[in-house]
Amino acid sequence: MAIIKDDNKEVTLEDGAEIKDACKDLGVVFGCEDGLCGTCMIEIEEGMENLSQPTQEEKDMGVEGNTRLACQCKINSGTVKIKY
Ligand code: FES
Repeated sequence: MAIIKDDNKEVTLEDGAEIKDACKDLGVVFGCEDGLCGTCMIEIEEGMENLSQPTQEEKDMGVEGNTRLACQCKINSGTVKIKY
């Protein structure tokens, strides 16, 4: 079991699941959902090590540091805290 959360709410999901739907539940706004527009950029406050490696789309978008594209990440397990 894995958890995506922000300051106010947490969403439980399967290990290895895409985080997109959980992030939608938390209120993250999406656009293309293909890693092309950057709308879904989120800041990872805790648990970056629990996410999948950045995709080529994320690298092309210049994602670095503690930011990721919510439409591109999967959660391996554990808890990830986001800010957006
Ligand atoms: S929704 Fe466009 S990059 Fe994620």
